[in-house]
Amino acid sequence: MKLLHIDSSILGTQSVSRTLTAEIVRCQKALHPGIEVSYRDLAADPALHLSDAHVAAWAGGIVEGAALCSDLETGQEYLSELFEADIVVIGAPMYNFSVPSQLKAWIDRVVVAGQTFEYSESGELETFLPSGKKIIIASTRGNVYQPGTPTAAHEHHENYLRSVFSFLGLHDVTVVRAEGLAFDRDTRDAAIRQARFEIAAIAI
Ligand SMILES: Cc1cc2nc3c(=O)[nH]c(=O)nc-3n(C[C@H](O)[C@H](O)[C@H](O)COP(=O)(O)O)c2cc1C
Repeated sequence: MKLLHIDSSILGTQSVSRTLTAEIVRCQKALHPGIEVSYRDLAADPALHLSDAHVAAWAGGIVEGAALCSDLETGQEYLSELFEADIVVIGAPMYNFSVPSQLKAWIDRVVVAGQTFEYSESGELETFLPSGKKIIIASTRGNVYQPGTPTAAHEHHENYLRSVFSFLGLHDVTVVRAEGLAFDRDTRDAAIRQARFEIAAIAI
């Protein structure tokens, strides 16, 4: 079995999502002894934003420059890692109502026509990733976005990630959430405690 562990927080050792993904991985390793773990720190080592040169290269054009060449290789590695993983653990803080741009850059490399999906001539969606993957997302945010709250309409974070994975045919998605992290210390501590409880529960 293989587990792909991805972090995207820019907050280093202060990051809550990094603490939570580490705990998820620890619990999943205990549940699946011998599981092979690969790690991507997207904040430390981000992919480039897509450009016309990427699109041209995908279309079979000439790849110019070492930076583009290496970035295209990184994109292929992202794809291989996702294809091979049985479990994908993603640390996803909310930045400006959505995911960090580094995580969006990863998504831009794995949601690729002809690689992970394709539309038939009649417009039907076909997906190519093995469907049995388990996705576990550690969602962290300063505010709260539950239905009925004034901020609910700004929730383009978990809904977005669920849309992306569902589009790719991956429907086994568990979200472990710690929110209200910018509120008082008690709220923050309770949110992290609850997330830890949920992490332990999914490893049973
Ligand atoms: C650049 C930046 C943008 C943020 N934008 C939002 C936001 O739109 N909504 C929100 O609720 N919290 C926002 N936050 C707060 C983070 O979601 C919160 O600090 C969370 O703990 C981040 O996860 P991390 O600790 O793993 O980095 C933002 C934080 C940063 C650093």
